[in-house]
Amino acid sequence: MSKVKELVKEQADKLGRQRTSLMPILQAVVSAEHYISEEAMEAIAEELDLSTADVFGTASFYTFLDTVPRGKYIIRVCKTITCHMKGKDEIIRTIEGMLKIKLGETTTDKRFSLLQANCLGWCHKGPVMLINDEVYPEVTPEKVTEIINQYLKKG
Ligand code: FES
Repeated sequence: MSKVKELVKEQADKLGRQRTSLMPILQAVVSAEHYISEEAMEAIAEELDLSTADVFGTASFYTFLDTVPRGKYIIRVCKTITCHMKGKDEIIRTIEGMLKIKLGETTTDKRFSLLQANCLGWCHKGPVMLINDEVYPEVTPEKVTEIINQYLKKG
């Protein structure tokens, strides 16, 4: 059995094989693999007795559940109105320049992906950036440069 199939089975054993387990299982797959492969979706569909289309529909509806391979560090910049007004475009340009990728892309060494996200619930402290689970509020081009440099050093 492949690693992802095993993971799905393990999660289904733990959470139960009902529809409400779909999201937590998808999230478990994303945290382990950084994205949801077709194989993972098929395994989930089989374990929970759902159609693959059903699983795919749920996975692609949530922007946090990636269905294409992403980097080790997923950078998300909030694109919603408050962060937009507070300068998220400049933040994105700074990151694009540093990592030499465009929005939606992943660096060739597979370390960083740059994406936009809908409101992250930190509007009072916009613009907001997220790197994996870490929230970075009130970012400026200078702060972002510093933060990304730290990640670059981490390897
Ligand atoms: Fe960006 Fe809400 S608008 S966090």
